[in-house]
Amino acid sequence: MSETSGKVVHVAIIMDGNGRWARRRGLPRVAGHREGVKAIRRTVEAAVEFGIPYLTIYAFSTENWMRPPEEVQALMHLLVATIQEQAEELKKQGVRLRFIGHIDALPADAAEKVRWIERYTQGGERLTLVVALNYSGRWDIYNAARQIARKGTDALEMLKNPDDFKHFLTTADIPDPDILIRTSGEYRISNFLLWELAYTELFFPDVLWPDFNKEVLADILQEFHRRERRFGMTSEQLHS
Ligand code: FPP
Repeated sequence: MSETSGKVVHVAIIMDGNGRWARRRGLPRVAGHREGVKAIRRTVEAAVEFGIPYLTIYAFSTENWMRPPEEVQALMHLLVATIQEQAEELKKQGVRLRFIGHIDALPADAAEKVRWIERYTQGGERLTLVVALNYSGRWDIYNAARQIARKGTDALEMLKNPDDFKHFLTTADIPDPDILIRTSGEYRISNFLLWELAYTELFFPDVLWPDFNKEVLADILQEFHRRERRFGMTSEQLHS
């Protein structure tokens, strides 16, 4: 095990492959999303078991509005239904939910449910489940730039070095991910956590999201601990 990989504090996931999972079974795409929710449940349980304090999932990007309207509607419906169904169990497990993204621009019932479950689970101390919803990395950076412009020169006091920019992002109080996983064997970031992924270790397992499970996550954690994170330094510097 490398001494430099450190403890895993935050795992972020691009849950890709729901549509392909459904198509291979001759099912509608939404069946893949429904199965994807089960994979989220399994992953939350595994993260709690492995002692990972932050898990972020990319549930809906600002670009996903371009999907067929019936799929967008089905995803919003699934989100609201899942919050309703899972709230009590998540709270019982000590899971706190946090949403990042342009929540105010969501359909009113979805925005209300999101705010409600954030309040309902706010005492959870075992795992923070961050759901990126109507989110994109560029949107978050753009949003930060607008806040800075509004503050004018006062913002300069808060921007003493590049890392201070993070104070203006919706992820301000969330540590940057140690691990990014994109399932389904595709190699893209797709506008996810663009600022935060600067030194994240990337993993692209072939498994489709509905088939993701604890064993796949355990393998990734093992591989992570074999890697050396140098953060721009040399290997010799890290070991001296
Ligand atoms: C990507 O697969 C998946 C999504 C865009 C949506 C992910 C959403 C869920 C798993 C469920 C809803 C979330 C919550 C929090 C209840 P894809 O459709 O792009 O798959 P494909 O590339 O195989 O077509």
